[in-house]
Amino acid sequence: MAGLGHRVTCVDNDVAKVKALASGTPTIHERGLPEALSSALADRSISFTADAGAAAAQADIVFLCLPTPAGTNGHPDLTAVTSVAREIGPSLRPGAIVVNKSTMPIGGVAMIRELLDRTDVPIVSNPEFLREGTAIDDFLNPDRVVVGSTDPDAIDRVAALYSPLNAPIVRTDPASAETIKYVSNALLATKLSFANAVAAICEGVAADAHQVLHGVGLDHRIGPHFLTPGPGWGGSCFPKDTEALVAMASESGFDFALLRSAIASNDEQQTRVVDKIVAAADGSVDGKTIAVLGLAFKAGTDDTRESPALMVATALIGLGAKVQAFDPIAAVDLDGLALKPDPYGAAQGAAVIAVLTEWPDFASLDLVKLADAAASPTIVDTRAIIDRAAAHQAGFEIDTIGVSPPPAR
Ligand code: UDX
Repeated sequence: MAGLGHRVTCVDNDVAKVKALASGTPTIHERGLPEALSSALADRSISFTADAGAAAAQADIVFLCLPTPAGTNGHPDLTAVTSVAREIGPSLRPGAIVVNKSTMPIGGVAMIRELLDRTDVPIVSNPEFLREGTAIDDFLNPDRVVVGSTDPDAIDRVAALYSPLNAPIVRTDPASAETIKYVSNALLATKLSFANAVAAICEGVAADAHQVLHGVGLDHRIGPHFLTPGPGWGGSCFPKDTEALVAMASESGFDFALLRSAIASNDEQQTRVVDKIVAAADGSVDGKTIAVLGLAFKAGTDDTRESPALMVATALIGLGAKVQAFDPIAAVDLDGLALKPDPYGAAQGAAVIAVLTEWPDFASLDLVKLADAAASPTIVDTRAIIDRAAAHQAGFEIDTIGVSPPPAR
C-alpha cells in the first residue's frame, strides 16, 4: 500500500515486531519484502506503532489484518479481531472506513459493526488472496480485488486505493465478498486433493501423473495451476478455511460432503506418504534414521503451520524413527527431530531420504554424495523434484509421488 503512494501506519501489539519492522527488518521470510520495506521507510510512507487507538484516530481507512487461527469445531478463533475492533471503535474518526481483511466466518462485517459500536463508520470486506512466498507479486498483480459493502461510496473509496494496479474490481455485498474468499480456497484445495488422487491412480496403472495432469491442465476450462501432486496441502489458510466452510455450510443446513471428502483425502495423502516411507525402509522405521528434506509447508516461506512435512515427520517419530531434517529457512523444535545444517548431514546414516518441500535447491543436490551419506540409497520424493534417471545412476531407488513405485524388494 505504501508502494502505491498511500501513507501507512502499521500496528501490532508485539512490541519486538514493531521495533524490528521500524528498523527495516522483516519478521517473516517473504521474497521482495526487505526491499519494499526499506524503500517505504526511506520515503517515510510507512511507520510502525503498538498504539492501535492512536493510529486509528488519525486514519481515513483502517484495515483489520488480524490472525484468525483455527479454533474449535471448525470455527476460527476470533479473539484478536474482537479485541482490536472493541479497542479502536471509540477512536475512529467520523466517516473513516473499516476494511476487514481477516478471514472471518461469513457475517464478519456484521459482527465487526457490532464490536465497533459505531453507526457512522462504513465497514467493507476486502478479502486477501496472497500466497506466502509470492505475496508481494500477488498484491501487485491481483487476478481481482473483491470489495463488499452495503455502502457504495465506501466501496468506491476502498476500490480507489487499488486503482494503480488496474485490476478487475468485484463490487458486491459483504456476505458475497466473504464467501468468495472461502470458496476460492475450498475450490483450490479440492483441486489439489483431486490431483493427489490422480497421482494415486497413476501409480496403480503405470501412468505418470505429472504428464497426465499436464495434459489435463492444458484444457483452458481446467487450467494448469494447482495440479501438482505432493504430500498434501497445508499452510495457515487451506486447512482452517476448508474446515470453516464445512462448518458454516452445515450450520446453514447443507452437508458439504464434497469438501469434507477433499479434506479427508488430504489427510489420507499424508498417511500415504508415511506408508511409502515405511515401505521404503523395508516395512519399519522403528529405530531407524530417516532424513527429511524440507519442513516448510511449501517452498519460499519459513512457515511450518499445518505443514505436511511436519505432520509426516511427527508420524515417523511416533513410529520410532529418528528424524534428521534440513530446511534452507524453516526451523522447528520437535522431540525426536534433529535439525541439520545441510541435506548431506540430514542424509547421514539414513535408511530413507524423504523430500517433502519443493525447495528448488533440492533439484541440484549432489546425488552421489547423498548416496554415500545414506545407510541405504532410497529416496521418497513427494515433490517430484529429484531427477529420477540421475537418482538411479547414483545408485538410488526412488519412489516419486504419481509415478509407479519400484517393484518391492
Ligand atoms: C493460499 C491461497 O493460495 C491464497 O490465495 C490465500 O490467500 C491463502 O492461502 P498459501 O497458504 O500461501 O496461499 O499457499 P498455496 O500456494 O495456495 O499452497 C497451499 C498448499 O498447497 C501448500 O501446501 C502447497 O505445497 C500445496 N500445493 C499447491 C500443492 O501441493 N500443489 C500445487 O500445485 C499447489
